Amino acid sequence: MSETFTIINSTLDMVEELEAVQRASFPTMTEEELITAEKYAAQIERFPEGQLALVTDSGKIVASSTDFRTIAEAINFDHYEHRYIEVSDNNWLGHHQPDGDWLYGACIGVIPDYRRRGLSTMLYNARHNLVRRFNLRGQVTGGLLAGYGAYKNKMSVEDYVDKVIAGKIFDPTVSIQLKLGFTIYGIIQDYVDDPGCDNKAAFIVWNNPDYQP
Ligand SMILES: CC(C)(COP(=O)(O)OP(=O)(O)OC[C@H]1O[C@@H](n2cnc3c(N)ncnc32)[C@H](O)[C@@H]1OP(=O)(O)O)[C@@H](O)C(=O)NCCC(=O)NCCS
Repeated sequence: MSETFTIINSTLDMVEELEAVQRASFPTMTEEELITAEKYAAQIERFPEGQLALVTDSGKIVASSTDFRTIAEAINFDHYEHRYIEVSDNNWLGHHQPDGDWLYGACIGVIPDYRRRGLSTMLYNARHNLVRRFNLRGQVTGGLLAGYGAYKNKMSVEDYVDKVIAGKIFDPTVSIQLKLGFTIYGIIQDYVDDPGCDNKAAFIVWNNPDYQP
């Protein structure tokens, strides 16, 4: 029988398992940037609706999503160069604004054995539903240019992104986000400390078509 998957709000009793999912999903991320059990607990307390766990029918957590609310002035659409560690307040989500009109999608990770089964698509759609439920303007994030590390000696990041947009290169993260309706505003040169993406991300935006001013 094929496995079925459900998205639920993360709860405090899950935080150790969430840390294990995070470590398996981001093997090249630095210790400083990983979300630990203690930080998952803080995130759940700060914005419970924005913390999602994807579980199998046997109750195993195989993917998760971390989100917070923000305002356009904090993100600054004209000067979007920023660092993940700062915007996420070292993953404590201290900059969460309960009345913020944008969702910042901080992190989605699916453990390797469960990839290519549509699970991140489920989580992105759950985020879109969260945006609609709170009547937010949309969702922003830094989409890690996860495949760029392997190309950095062959082409500039600008050329790489052009090829990703044109569908000539598949980027393991940003190509999926483009499929899900995000648009690329620009390149964030120094978003994380991760050789896999040469520290780079795309600043991506999804506008809520149902937003009511
Ligand atoms: C990026 C990541 C979240 C994708 O999760 P996933 O559950 O495997 O993605 P999905 O199965 O929902 O795939 C989404 C789409 O991309 C396609 N896709 C996924 N990986 C692919 C690959 N390596 N090559 C080609 N297509 C791929 C899928 O076929 C699917 O397309 P479809 O909707 O047309 O069928 C996952 O690989 C991961 O956790 N990576 C490490 C952490 C990370 O980079 N997170 C994002 C941080 S911003």
